[in-house]
Amino acid sequence: MGRHRLIAGAILIFTLFTGVIFPSDAQGEGNGNGLTVGFYASSCPKVEDIVTEVVARLSKQDPTLPPALLRLFFHDCFVKGCDASVLLDETPSGQPVEKKSAGNGDTIRGLEVIDEIKTQVEKECPKTVSCADILAFAAREAVNLSGLPRHTVPAGRHDSRTSRASDADYYLPTPAMPLEKIIAMFAERNLTIEDMVVLLGAHSMGQAHCTQFTDRLYKFNKDTPRDPSLNAIYGNELAGKCPEAMSKEQASRTTVDLDPTTPRVLDIQYYVNLLQGRGLLQSDQVLSTDSRTGGIVNAMAASSDTWSTKFLRAIIKMGRSNVLTEDEGEIRTNCRNYLK
Ligand code: HEM
Ligand SMILES: *[C@@H]1O[C@H](CO)[C@@H](O)[C@H](O)[C@H]1NC(C)=O
Ligand SMILES: *[C@@H]1O[C@H](CO)[C@@H](O)[C@H](O)[C@H]1NC(C)=O
Repeated sequence: MGRHRLIAGAILIFTLFTGVIFPSDAQGEGNGNGLTVGFYASSCPKVEDIVTEVVARLSKQDPTLPPALLRLFFHDCFVKGCDASVLLDETPSGQPVEKKSAGNGDTIRGLEVIDEIKTQVEKECPKTVSCADILAFAAREAVNLSGLPRHTVPAGRHDSRTSRASDADYYLPTPAMPLEKIIAMFAERNLTIEDMVVLLGAHSMGQAHCTQFTDRLYKFNKDTPRDPSLNAIYGNELAGKCPEAMSKEQASRTTVDLDPTTPRVLDIQYYVNLLQGRGLLQSDQVLSTDSRTGGIVNAMAASSDTWSTKFLRAIIKMGRSNVLTEDEGEIRTNCRNYLK
C-alpha cells in the first residue's frame, strides 16, 4: 500500500510542478487524434515561443484580449471544425463568411493578435504553420495568462477554404437557446454534458454586451418581466448598467463582465456565482438548476483543482474537433485569405 501511495504521490508532484496535462487523456473519439504535440519541432521550432511573446505583449497593452482569444478558438472549433474558417475575410464561393454571422458579427475580437502572430511566424518559417494551429496556441496562452497551467497543444491542423455565415448561425449556441439544444450541439462535437459545463467555466472571464441578456431584465415573459432565477441585487446592478431606456445602438456598445467578482481570471468563481443566481446569460444560469447539470456545477464550485484539470483536458479535446490534416485543406500565408 505504502509503495502505491508513494508512486501516486510522485506522479502527482510531477504533474503539479510541470503543469503537464497529457493529451492522451483528452483524446476525442473519432477524428482529430492525428494531431501531435511538438508538430513543428523541426519545421518551425520557434513558433510556440513567438505565440507566447506576441500574446503576452499585446495582452499587456489590452488586458481584455485573453478572453477574446479563447472565445475565438471556441467559435472556430464549433463551426465545421478547428480549421481557421472563422478568420477568412472572403472565400472562393463569395458567400458571406462566418465573421458576418449574428453569433460572431460585432462581438468577435482578437483578430489583430492572430494577424501579428502570423506575420512574425511567416518571417521565421514561411508557409509552414497553419492559422488553425496558431488559434490553438494563442488560446493556450490566453488560458495561461488568465491563471491556469500551460497545457500541451497537439498540432498539425490545416486551414479550410470555406467559411459560411449560415454555418456559424447554425452551429454556435446562443444565450436564449434551450439547454436541450445546447447539449446536442456539444454532443455533435463529441463533447459530453460534463465537458460542456466544464468548458463554460470560460465565462469566468471576459465581457458580454447588454443586448445578450436584457430580455432577462425587462421582458422575460408576458407576466414576469424579470427572470426569477436572477439574484435580486445582481439584477438591479445589471439594470443600472443596461437601463431599459437604453437605445439599441448604445446597448450594442455597452459591455458587462461575465463574472463580476473576478472578471479577468479563469477560476471556479463562475460556478459559485451560478449557485447565487449570478449567472449573466440565461444559458449560464440554467446550468445550476437543470437536473442534468446541477450536480456538475456543485462539484466544480467545490474544487479548483478538479475544474482546472478537467477544463484543460476539455480544451484539448475541443481542439480536435473535425480538424483537417495531411492532404486536406491548406496552409494560408495570411490568415484572412485563402490561397489564390
Ligand atoms: C452554451 C454555450 C455558449 C454560449 C451561449 C455562449 C455565449 C456567449 C456570449 C453571448 C458572449 C458575449 C459576447 C459579447 O456580447 O461580446 C460570450 C462571451 C464569451 N464566451 Fe461564450 N458562450 C458559450 C460557450 C463558450 C465556450 C465553450 C467558451 C470557451 C471555452 C466560451 C468563451 C467565451 C469567452 C472567453 C467570452 C468573453 C469574450 C470577450 O470578452 O470578448 N463560451 N459567450
Ligand atoms: C465524433 O466521433 C465520431 C465517431 O467516432 C466521429 O465519426 C466524428 O468525426 C467525431 N466528431 C468530431 C467533431 O470530432
Ligand atoms: C503559465 O505557464 C508558465 C510556463 O509553463 C508557468 O510557469 C506558470 O505557472 C503558468 N501560470 C499559471 C498561473 O499557472
